[in-house]
Amino acid sequence: MLKSAFGTDRQGKAVEVYTLSNAKGTEAKIATLGAILVSWNFKDKNGVVRDVVLGYDDAADYLKGTCYFGATIGRSSNRIAGGKIVINGVDYQLEQNDGDNNLHSGSNGMHAVNWDVDAVSENSITLKYLSADGEQDFPGNMTVKLTYTLSDDDELTINYEAVSDKDTVANFTNHSYFNLGGHDSGDIFGQKLKIYADAFNPVTPTGSIPTGELRLVEGTPFDFREFKEIGKDADADYDQLSYTGGYDHNFVLDDKKEVRIMAEAICEETGIHLYGYTDCPGVQLYASNFVNGEKGKGGAVYNIHQAFCLESQYFPDSINNPAFETPLLKAGDVYKSTTIYKLALD
Ligand code: BGC
Repeated sequence: MLKSAFGTDRQGKAVEVYTLSNAKGTEAKIATLGAILVSWNFKDKNGVVRDVVLGYDDAADYLKGTCYFGATIGRSSNRIAGGKIVINGVDYQLEQNDGDNNLHSGSNGMHAVNWDVDAVSENSITLKYLSADGEQDFPGNMTVKLTYTLSDDDELTINYEAVSDKDTVANFTNHSYFNLGGHDSGDIFGQKLKIYADAFNPVTPTGSIPTGELRLVEGTPFDFREFKEIGKDADADYDQLSYTGGYDHNFVLDDKKEVRIMAEAICEETGIHLYGYTDCPGVQLYASNFVNGEKGKGGAVYNIHQAFCLESQYFPDSINNPAFETPLLKAGDVYKSTTIYKLALD
């Protein structure tokens, strides 16, 4: 297992990057900071190695950045209305880092902390983080273990496990920005996407909080049930797209509680095909609407619509919405979740 220096965290402690590799020569680099997927190198149909995720060259840039490139988001991914939650009758006010709302657990979320290395092998790494009672304003001491495994089949499996000593929120995701043409190849609107969802969560005109409605995708720009170019309907005159400046919505997956397919994407130029699988109830499609002049890896500059995220998760603000499956983790219970991204040339 190759290990290299990647700068320091906010406390000056060393951040390292570990390289997972498989028999085919595919490589995925994972930083201890934020348990971030820094790069994923895969040989395309022409034999050219492409790094299919956006990112930065060192820890300092990740700590400065506001895009959450490749990061592990926790305890709570996506938005919580007003940053307010009530657990067992007690009110908790979380950081309001997105207008009035809490987004991705605030500025001290698990994307911004340095995780400990628990175990490593050639193709897998387990990172561990102990989040203290009151950290990010959430109740409970929480221990989180996260394992990335790269199989010889080019599947990158992310297993999350968390336990808390008080009832709290557990809703983890990975915030990778995919560009199947390569991280520095520009616009993704020509790449094709399929999402295994019949419905999505419309959001409020400001603040992007789900209204509670589950709207069928049929007849809307959100219909990705068959492969469609991401850009095809992205600029359609449709209220939900104008509220959020483009695709930035949760899609409702079927109600199976097992790992099943959530989405696929294809880039015809490189032949790279991404498959996504999860046991989560939803997946957020975010088309990098707010990325603007971000200086990334190897001198690349990333702009709007140059990547897409498929963030598996509980529905946004589900902690406050009794109609949605709850991300509440009871004290002593074990939160377990699995998301798999797979690259192929078929
Ligand atoms: C959110 C976007 C946000 C992005 C980066 C996504 O998960 O849905 O609204 O801009 O993360 O913070």
